[in-house]
Amino acid sequence: MAICTLTDVGKTYPLGDTMVHALQGVSLSIDEGEFLAFSGPSGSGKTTLLNLVGCLDTPTTGSIQLDGRELAKMSRAELGAFRAKNIGFVFQSFNLIPVLSAVENVEVALRLGGAEPDQARCEQALVDVGLGDQMMKRPSQMSGGQQQRVAIARALVKSPRIVIADEPTANLDSKNGEQVLDLMRRLNEDHGATFLFSTHDPIVMDRVRRTVHLRDGRVISQA
Ligand SMILES: Nc1ncnc2c1ncn2[C@@H]1O[C@H](COP(=O)(O)OP(=O)(O)O)[C@@H](O)[C@H]1O
Ligand SMILES: [Mg+2]
Repeated sequence: MAICTLTDVGKTYPLGDTMVHALQGVSLSIDEGEFLAFSGPSGSGKTTLLNLVGCLDTPTTGSIQLDGRELAKMSRAELGAFRAKNIGFVFQSFNLIPVLSAVENVEVALRLGGAEPDQARCEQALVDVGLGDQMMKRPSQMSGGQQQRVAIARALVKSPRIVIADEPTANLDSKNGEQVLDLMRRLNEDHGATFLFSTHDPIVMDRVRRTVHLRDGRVISQA
């Protein structure tokens, strides 16, 4: 069952007098529960594609359906609400709030999603990522790998249908990168959430079930 369908999607950015074609003619179907990476050189359109699927941006041409809903037919407010409820984000640079503890960082995600803050649920999310003994620490007191695990707990606490991770291992050494990927793979198997990565890291490419290669904004192959 497809959770996301892209049909002839294009994204163009104005740049001075010219246009940058970040994506062109991308058609793709993603099934619920997939563990998939978009790979390709820098500038090939990976982030642009993840931002479109994550409802952070809208395509210039073509259409995107998420969970059977046509994104172009949703208002800004509907898109925001849909994103808060259904999509979790993990970023390259973790993007934790420095003055908050690990468990408070996770709580923020629940509040943004409109859910009641639920301490037990946030603590369980941290236990699930192996940080049960680090809940009161601030990001600066944790290693990069631990910070990224807090970010994963934050993405997963609201039980999103889709987790989007843009180069999640780019700021991790290979040991932490492997741990973080193995953790996400386990969460994918346990919770059934769909995971979409962008990467050129072999650690990620080795662990995903499907890779879609991009070049110059187009899909050049899928394996
Ligand atoms: N906001 C923007 N304004 C102008 N050009 C952009 C913008 N975002 C991305 N681009 C351009 O779109 C292309 C694809 O970028 P991006 O999706 O970030 O690729 P990747 O994530 O694979 O490195 C690049 O040529 C990039 O310079
Ligand atoms: Mg990118």
